[in-house]
Amino acid sequence: MADPESPLLHALRQAVRSAPEQAEFRVALAEALLNAGDADGAIVELGEALRLAPDSVPARQLMLRALSGGTPAESVPAEKPDAGFDWPTAEAELRDVAPPPRFTPAPAPPPAAPVPPPAAADDAREDPRGAPAHEVERPALTLADVGGLSDVKDRLQAAFLAPLRNPELRRLYGKSLRGGLLLYGPPGCGKTFVARAVAGELGASFVSVGIADVLDMWIGSSERNLSELFQLARRQAPCVLFFDEVDALGQRRSQTRNSTMRTTVNQFLAELDSVGSDNEGVFVLGATNAPWDVDPALRRPGRFDRTVLVLPPDAEARAEILRYHLRDRPIAGVDLASLVERTDGFSGADVAHLCESAAEIALMDAVRSGEARLMGMPDFDAALADARPSTGPWFDAARSVALFANEGGAYDDLAAYFKSHKGTKGR
Ligand SMILES: Nc1ncnc2c1ncn2[C@@H]1O[C@H](COP(=O)(O)OP(=O)(O)OP(=O)(O)O)[C@@H](O)[C@H]1O
Ligand SMILES: [Mg+2]
Repeated sequence: MADPESPLLHALRQAVRSAPEQAEFRVALAEALLNAGDADGAIVELGEALRLAPDSVPARQLMLRALSGGTPAESVPAEKPDAGFDWPTAEAELRDVAPPPRFTPAPAPPPAAPVPPPAAADDAREDPRGAPAHEVERPALTLADVGGLSDVKDRLQAAFLAPLRNPELRRLYGKSLRGGLLLYGPPGCGKTFVARAVAGELGASFVSVGIADVLDMWIGSSERNLSELFQLARRQAPCVLFFDEVDALGQRRSQTRNSTMRTTVNQFLAELDSVGSDNEGVFVLGATNAPWDVDPALRRPGRFDRTVLVLPPDAEARAEILRYHLRDRPIAGVDLASLVERTDGFSGADVAHLCESAAEIALMDAVRSGEARLMGMPDFDAALADARPSTGPWFDAARSVALFANEGGAYDDLAAYFKSHKGTKGR
C-alpha cells in the first residue's frame, strides 16, 4: 500500500486537487501510485485521466500496467511510457525531507475554513412552469469567518443581530424588526459572503434571489409564485431572505408601464412590507453595487431602509482570504505578509483570482517540464505583475456620488472613507 505521507505523493495529490481537469497531473500521480504499489489507486486516477484525455498514450500504457497488477513498466511489451522524469528516484530523494513550510516567516495558524459546503437544498422548489428552483442553504459560516470588516460587523450587530437576539430589550425600547438592511459596495468585496454569514450567525436558513429573477420569473404570470417565495422563507424560518442586485428594480421601472410587471412589483413591495411585522422569523437583506440606482420605492421605511457599506477587504481580511484560497494548494515559502501588503485595494474576488493565476503559472511550468513542483513566491510575483484591483471604476463613480449627491447624509460613510483615504492609489 502506498505511504500516504510520501511527500511526492502528497504534492501530486495536491496538484491534482488544485487542477482536477489536468490529465497530465493525474497520469503523474498514477505513475507514482503504481511505483508505490497502489495499483487500485492508480486505476482510479488513470480512469479519470482517460476520461479527460482519451487519446493519452502514457495514460493508456500505464493503465495496461496497472491492470496487470502493477508489474514494472519494463515487463510490459509496450513501449515505456513517456518517462521524462524519474518519479521513483525523486520519491526516494524526497522521502526523508520534511515538507517545506507553507508560509514564511512562521507557519501560519490553521485557517478557519470560511466557506463550508452549502447544505443540501431540502426545500428547493421547482416552479411548475420551469422557473429556477430556490436553493435553501444552511450556512455553517458565521461572522467570525469573515475576515476584518469590523465596521460592517458592528453595524450588523447593532442594527440587526442584537435586537433579534434580545426580544425583551426590543420590547423595552419599542424596536420593531421591520425593515431590511441593504449591503452596498464595490463588486467582489464580500456582500454575499457577509449575508450568508449573518444567516449562519442566526442558525437560520438562507435563500438568495436576484431581483432580476424575481421580475423575470413571474413575468406575465400569477402573483401566486411570488408569494410562494416568501412562503418558502416562512416555512424555512428562521430564514434570511437575501435579495441581490437590488438596483435592477429601478432599471426596470420603465417596463412597469406593462401592467403585469406593475402588479408583480407592487406584490413584491407588499410582501416585503409584510415581513417582520408578524414576527415569523424571516429577515430580509439586500445587496447592490449601485445604491444610487435603487428605486426609491425600495428605500422607504420598512423596506431596505438602512445601508451598510462593505469596503474592499482590509489587511486582516486579505490574509484570511489568501489562507482560504491556498488551503489545498501545494505551496511552500509563501510570504503572506508581503502578499497582504501588495494586494491593498484588491477585492476578495481579486485576491482569489491572484491565487488562481499563481497556480496556473506553476501548473503550466509543471506541464512544460514534466515535473510537479510546489507553488512559491516567484509564481505570486509573476501573477502580481499583471494583477490590478478591479474596484477602481466603482470608486470613481462612488466618489462623485459622495461629493455631489450625498443628500440627507445617505452616503456619509462613503464620504468618510474618501476623506480617510485621500490620495491613496487613486481610490
Ligand atoms: N472579509 C472577507 N473575509 C473572507 N473572505 C472574503 C471576504 N470578503 C470577500 N471574501 C471572499 O471573496 C469572495 C467574493 O465575495 P462576494 O461574492 O461576497 O462579493 P460581493 O460583494 O457579493 O460581489 P458582487 O458585487 O460581485 O456580488 C467570497 O466568496 C469570499 O471568498
Ligand atoms: Mg454578491
